[in-house]
Amino acid sequence: MRRPLVAGNWKMNKTVEQAALLVADLLPGLEAVRTVDRVLCPPFTSLMVVSGMLAGTEVGLGAQNMHWDESGAFTGEVSPLMIKEFCRYVIIGHSERRGYFGENDESVNLKIKSAIVNDLTPIVCVGESLEENESGKTDAVISRQVNLGLDGISKEAVGKIIVAYEPIWAIGTGKAASPQMANDIIGGVVRRNLAGLYTDEIAEKVRILYGGSVKGSNSAEFFSQPEIDGGLIGGASLKAEDFVQIVEAAA
Ligand code: PGA
Repeated sequence: MRRPLVAGNWKMNKTVEQAALLVADLLPGLEAVRTVDRVLCPPFTSLMVVSGMLAGTEVGLGAQNMHWDESGAFTGEVSPLMIKEFCRYVIIGHSERRGYFGENDESVNLKIKSAIVNDLTPIVCVGESLEENESGKTDAVISRQVNLGLDGISKEAVGKIIVAYEPIWAIGTGKAASPQMANDIIGGVVRRNLAGLYTDEIAEKVRILYGGSVKGSNSAEFFSQPEIDGGLIGGASLKAEDFVQIVEAAA
């Protein structure tokens, strides 16, 4: 049995003060759901304050991105050593980073390797665009992202990775994939490629999330699918009531 995980990706939202208010609102509801791994991913500027608020709870903290090098002349970047001062998780290869900031399979691969070396759990995002989806390229795109993203990562290390399938056309658009379709792609494409790279047994153990317009009202249907092990939640993670409802649906 794979333990469910729900992560809130706050993206570029919330000042430190607003982040602290949201965490205070969220904590009682999140702490009550002990059968789900719960993760908050606020912006870098709020990590320190939020990590203080989460101390002594089982709610994990994640960053939304990181550089692969440990230090150096990379203006504006944040290193794994800095992330791990506060976080256990890091989102890698989110489609917004691939789309707006030139991330590609090679940089995703470097970041995953660096996260593992630094004892961080990477939440690795894969997913196809609307155009790729409509032209029948979904399988090819996701297969490429999984194979190049995980290139050179050992079978021991892959056990530490979480994958999130996020069709780009469903992110922040209100157009979620159907639960059945998400389940089929996670099982038939993501997990099949993991099995090809490793073994069926290893692939069965990797947790794979769905992300893209998950909300309180549709989360139970997604999480009841056998291949979907939880969610990466954007917009709906910014409202305490909605996010707690989503976490409860994963239990
Ligand atoms: P959304 O975002 O839930 O707002 O669609 C998901 C994500 O970007 O991780």
